Amino acid sequence: MKIARSLQSLKPSYIREILAAAKAPHMISLAGGLPAEDTFPMHILAPIMTQLARLPSLFQYGPTQGYGPLLAYCDQHFAYQPTHTSLITTGSQQGLDLIARAYLDAGDAIVMEAPSYLGALQVFELAQARILPVAQTSTGPDLTQLEAYFAKHSPKLFYAVPDFHNPTGVCWSHATREHVATLCQRYGVVLLEDAPYRELRFSGESLPMVSELCPEQAVVLRSFSKYVSPGMRVGVITGPERFICPLITLKQAADLHSSVPMQALLLETLMYSDFPQHLQAIRTLYQVRYQVLTGALAEQLPQCAATPIDGGMFVWLTLPRCDVEQLAAHLLQQGVAVVPGSVFYPADVDAPPCCAVRLNFTHAEPDTLVEGVSRMADVFAHIQE
Ligand SMILES: Cc1ncc(COP(=O)(O)O)c(C=O)c1O
Repeated sequence: MKIARSLQSLKPSYIREILAAAKAPHMISLAGGLPAEDTFPMHILAPIMTQLARLPSLFQYGPTQGYGPLLAYCDQHFAYQPTHTSLITTGSQQGLDLIARAYLDAGDAIVMEAPSYLGALQVFELAQARILPVAQTSTGPDLTQLEAYFAKHSPKLFYAVPDFHNPTGVCWSHATREHVATLCQRYGVVLLEDAPYRELRFSGESLPMVSELCPEQAVVLRSFSKYVSPGMRVGVITGPERFICPLITLKQAADLHSSVPMQALLLETLMYSDFPQHLQAIRTLYQVRYQVLTGALAEQLPQCAATPIDGGMFVWLTLPRCDVEQLAAHLLQQGVAVVPGSVFYPADVDAPPCCAVRLNFTHAEPDTLVEGVSRMADVFAHIQE
């Protein structure tokens, strides 16, 4: 059977491929976006799972929109207005897919930050959207370019990760958040705010979500993957009913509903009395690992520059001019996996202006992070000989 035209041009995710290579023995992987397994709250999950196993009704088919008590929690914590509602998704990745299928026709213009989350690029390329890449600065998107896109192309949506961006770790400033909210309202562009890293702030002051500043013009994707467990595959999409209701119908056709036992497990975990302490411990652990990684980089690779961050899971390392994909291949041969920055740009965009790699600091132990940087320094020394 011939595959659909839309799928023919879709490249398999580079990260999934590199992650497969990164499983080799003695490989140090700084490539994936994996949380540390010792942050999974097993001590909280285990007794809850035993309790849930006594409730057969949870193992029955459930409602498409989500498990009622979890939806009530979402209304209380995430809805900005009484007219806002939520849909529980199978990870926030499914939220992206539903949005693309519900709202984008081939050729529709959308704006994305450049670089951008690879999983979102895949979804929007599959939907054959016309991607307008807005350059990123240290405080968020280039606002002049963003307004020019809004004015000239009337994009349907602006997809953005304002808190601890994947791959750059950038966190938008307060002023940028206000400006983007105003632009979305003025030009009638829907903001799709993807916020999987928001809870992982380990320094600096918390800023409002951009969607809070334009609640009628925004849809928010939340994920529990990075601070509860990615394998549970639970996310939630929240926004005005007029945007969410079509997604519920679409999800019926996609997978009927997300796993009810996993939704119940997630809810009980979030409500567990010690959960805030658990979350704080994750932040502290990641801050230490971030400091270890950036300390080793400053010492061993002074010719490279790591963009400073206040949270999230990634360091964006800018390198002296080089072929970054070839460099990543060399590093892989020497036993360290990183992601070349070039893969985070839409396929038809010209070569990115900078030469950078994305490094994950949350999964590897501190000693391993230091060893990974030593291996990188050896490869650099060899290249520069
Ligand atoms: C920006 C961004 N959005 C969405 C996702 C997908 O998360 P989930 O596990 O909830 O599907 C990721 C995962 O790495 C991500 O980095």
